[in-house]
Amino acid sequence: MNVAVLGSGGREHAICWALAKSESVDALFAVPGNGGTAAVAENVVGLDPCDGEAVCGFARDREIDLGVNGPEAPLGAGVADELREAGIAVFGPDAQGAALEGSKTYSKRFMEDNDLPTASYGSFSDKQGAIAFARNMGAPIVIKADGLAAGKGVMVCEELEDAERAIEECFGGAFGEAGSTVVVEECLTGPECSLLAFVTNGQAHCMATAQDHKRAFNGDMGPNTGGMGVYSPVPIVTDEEHAAMVDIMSRAAAATARAPFEHDYRGVLYGGFMLTPQGPKLLEFNARFGDPETQVILPRLESDLAQVLYAAAMGDSDSIQLDWSPSWAVCVVLASEGYPGAYETGKVICGIDEAEALDGVTVFHAGTALNSDGELVTAGGRVLNVVALGSTFEEARERAYEACDKINFEGKQLRTDIGAKAAAGRSSWN
Ligand code: AMP
Ligand code: GLY
Repeated sequence: MNVAVLGSGGREHAICWALAKSESVDALFAVPGNGGTAAVAENVVGLDPCDGEAVCGFARDREIDLGVNGPEAPLGAGVADELREAGIAVFGPDAQGAALEGSKTYSKRFMEDNDLPTASYGSFSDKQGAIAFARNMGAPIVIKADGLAAGKGVMVCEELEDAERAIEECFGGAFGEAGSTVVVEECLTGPECSLLAFVTNGQAHCMATAQDHKRAFNGDMGPNTGGMGVYSPVPIVTDEEHAAMVDIMSRAAAATARAPFEHDYRGVLYGGFMLTPQGPKLLEFNARFGDPETQVILPRLESDLAQVLYAAAMGDSDSIQLDWSPSWAVCVVLASEGYPGAYETGKVICGIDEAEALDGVTVFHAGTALNSDGELVTAGGRVLNVVALGSTFEEARERAYEACDKINFEGKQLRTDIGAKAAAGRSSWN
C-alpha cells in the first residue's frame, strides 16, 4: 500500500513510525510532516492537510491506497469525505462524525440521547441564559466554548464569579466563533483516563488506557497545555471501571452507525473520562488519535497498524485484531522555554541518538526542523516526546527521565513528575 498520513506533530511521527514497520506499506508520506517523520516517511512539504482538493490531487498522483488522518482540523474541513468521494480509503470519520469533537453541544446531545454517563449541562447561545443556568447550578462549575479552541476553551471555575467572567469572555469573542455557543457543565471529580477505540461499522475495538498531564508545571500547576506527558496503561483503573469504559465506548460506536446519527465513522473515537465516585463519566469525545496519548499507545501495539487502519477504513471490523505488549510506556514532553506562552525557536537540539541508544527508548518529534546548516533545531512549543518502555511502571518512568537527561537544547522545559501521582496510588487524587 501507498499510505499518506495527514499532520505534523508528535502523534503523526508515532503513526508514521508504526506504519513504517509494516510489511504491507510500500511508500509512506507525511503531509506535511516534521523533522522526525522525515526519517521514516517522505515529507510532502507545502501541502496543506486541510486543503481537500490539493490532498485529493496528491493522493491521485501518488496512487495513495490509504489516507490516515492525524489532527482534528482536516476532519472538520471535510477532507476525509472528499478523499472517500474520490475513491480513496481513509482512516478518519466524516465531517458529521467529527462533530462529536467539533461541537460540545452536539457531543453532549449524543451522550444524552444514548444514555452515556456524563456531567449534567446546559447549552446556550445567549449570555443571560448561560449566566442564569450557572447561578442556579452553583460553583464549582465548568464553562466550555462549544467549538474547537485548541484545548483552551474549557474553564474549570471554583467560584461563580469566575464562571460568569468565563461566560462573558466566550460571548465577548475570546474564542471567536467557537465561543458563540457555550456549554455550562456540572464539575466532576476524580482521576482522568482516556480510552481510545478504533471504530468502524458501529463496532469499537478499544486500545489501552492512557493518562495525559495537561498542566504546564509539576504538581498539576500552571496553565493548560497540549499535554506535557502521558503513560499507558493507567495503573489506578479498576477492572470494574475499565469494563464500564469499554461498555460506554461500545455503545457510543454502535450509536454512530444508526439513526438518527448515521455517521460514516471509520476512525478513532477517543473517550476522555473522569473516574468519579459514581463510576466513569465522559468529559468529551475526540474524533482522532490523542496527542501525546498515541506516542505511548502505538509503541505497545504488537498488531500491524497498517492492516488495522486499512480494515477500519474499509468498514471491515471483523479483520481487526489488537495485540498489546505487556510493557508499560511513559512519555515525557520536552518543551521550549515559555510554552504554552510565547517561546523562541531555532535552538539546536543534541543528544537524541544517545537517548535512543538506551533500552526501550524512542524519541518522537513534535516541533523540530532542520536549519540551513542541516542541524536539528526547535520549531514549536512542544519539541520532543521522549518515550520509554519498561517491564514495570517505575522502570519505564526511570528510563524516560534518564533519556530526557541526555537531550539538550537551550530553554529545555519539562515536568519532572509525569506518572508520580499514579505511582503513589489512587489516594493521591483524594
Ligand atoms: P475537555 O477538553 O472537555 O477534555 O476538557 C479539558 C479538561 O478540563 C479536562 O481534561 C478536565 O481536566 C477538565 N474538565 C472538563 N470537563 C470537566 C468537568 N465536567 N468537571 C471537571 N473537570 C472538567
Ligand atoms: N491529549 C489530549 C488530546 O489529544 O486531545
